[in-house]
Amino acid sequence: MELNRRTVIAGAAAAGVAATALGGTAHASDGGKPVKSLFGKLADGTKVYRWSLQNGGTRLKVLSYGGVVQSLEIPDRHGRYANVSLGFGSVDEYVASSPYFGALIGRYGNRIGKGRFTLDGKSYQLSVNDGVNSLHGGAKGFDKRVWDVEGFVKGSDVGLYLHYTSVDGEMGYPGTLKVKVTYTLTRHGDWRIDYEAVTDKATVVNLTSHMYWNLAGEGSGTIEDHELTIAASRYTPTDTGLIPTGELAKVSGTPFDFRKGKTVGRDIRAGHVQQVQAKGYDHNWVLDKGITARPEHVATLRDPRSGRTLHIATDQPGLQFYSGNFLDGTLTGSGGRTYRQGDALCLETQHFPDSPNQAAFPSTVLRPGQVYRSTTVHTFGN
Ligand code: GLA
Repeated sequence: MELNRRTVIAGAAAAGVAATALGGTAHASDGGKPVKSLFGKLADGTKVYRWSLQNGGTRLKVLSYGGVVQSLEIPDRHGRYANVSLGFGSVDEYVASSPYFGALIGRYGNRIGKGRFTLDGKSYQLSVNDGVNSLHGGAKGFDKRVWDVEGFVKGSDVGLYLHYTSVDGEMGYPGTLKVKVTYTLTRHGDWRIDYEAVTDKATVVNLTSHMYWNLAGEGSGTIEDHELTIAASRYTPTDTGLIPTGELAKVSGTPFDFRKGKTVGRDIRAGHVQQVQAKGYDHNWVLDKGITARPEHVATLRDPRSGRTLHIATDQPGLQFYSGNFLDGTLTGSGGRTYRQGDALCLETQHFPDSPNQAAFPSTVLRPGQVYRSTTVHTFGN
């Protein structure tokens, strides 16, 4: 569907903001229909659209490229909005250099050792893109694919359906995988992600969202003063390539203990061998609740200065907490400022990394006839 300029202007007028010409900023109104506008083009001419939606005071901008959340705005305790998600201003930057900013990740979130696994007696070699390992689905994962996006209003919810079909053998994975992700903004301003996938051959699946959070606003500096709570008594230590060793280690008495809540910075320089090899935190926490039928609260992130708070609930067994260790001041974000180490953090709900090679970890195998389902809910406060 081509951009309908009148719809854009109508949506903008409803939100009480000035409409700009095609390619400019399109705004949705609170609880109104998501608004689509052209964001840019890929080198081969494929159009990339940006969808704007808003509900319950939360404002979201989503790209058809990678299902990327380009911007997520929430108010502070004085009602002042900030974009709390790292991102870029152009398609070219996403293609050239994005470390997964705001993107959907698949087929397999995080690492698979040597990009190899065996399933039903058959071994598979995946695309290797992180040293000898496969990271976030390989060289061209779901974050670098153009998704079919459709906006919806359902009762008091507004949202987007994102569809992508990954063909048999893509990045080395077996089976054609049909993926549907639903981004919903509720009337309370919660952002819910529902992932669904079906396959025609046995395969492995582990989908997630790679948001880079800075609740003080992207480009505003370090997140070391953010307070983080994670409901996990164990985590999965890794080797130097960040592949789990298989051990479920206790967090108790280590810098990895976030059960009672503490600032990200408090123990980040403690010099624990696991932190030294990861350049900070870049680990999977084993959530105490385990796999649950419904999303349960697992983590809270709070910026004491602005009061902005993020609560995460999920049905998944793991949470990757990554403290933005590889940001090195070479990328310039959507707000025009460079991103340095620790300027954002990621909280990726997931199955454990390298599960296809770790028999003791919960299984990530999906078979024909089964439906992969995963849900994560983000609730915001101030
Ligand atoms: C994940 C990984 C990190 C890093 C980031 C992207 O969080 O665990 O090691 O690769 O993605 O830079």
